[in-house]
Amino acid sequence: MHLLLLNGPNLNLLGQREPGLYGRQTLDQIETSLCERACADGLTLECFQSNFEGALVDRIHQAMGKVDGILINAGAYTHTSIAIRDALLGTAIPYVELHLSNTHAREPFRHRSFLADRAVGVICGFGPVSYDLALDGLVRHLRNSASGGKS
Ligand code: DQA
Repeated sequence: MHLLLLNGPNLNLLGQREPGLYGRQTLDQIETSLCERACADGLTLECFQSNFEGALVDRIHQAMGKVDGILINAGAYTHTSIAIRDALLGTAIPYVELHLSNTHAREPFRHRSFLADRAVGVICGFGPVSYDLALDGLVRHLRNSASGGKS
């Protein structure tokens, strides 16, 4: 099973950016640990981060037919981007939306997501552990679908 982790704008600053909210782990550390978890479970995981909406849209298009599932922390684009929503729906790749912080406990403009209603699921508020939980949830969903929903 081949998976893709997408991170949106400002997530390259993890470790330095508002550590009280987002923790001290860098994106590189989060990606390395998630790749190790994926690998231990016989999966492959590719990681991509961009501060540009179009680059994220392009990466989603490239995943079509090659990737079984997407984990996405779209950062602020979660709350604004119809283009990323359309790319995810257009490729029909199952995805899990995730956030380090609990976006529902923050400013009202972070309560809206353009991705959530069509996601397999949404995980938020667990810091870097949100990535682990999102991976587990997505893999269980994909394995369950592959076995015809029997497990
Ligand atoms: C975030 C939450 C978003 O509202 C914010 O714009 C981010 C990070 C999170 O992981 O908690 O950039 O996606």
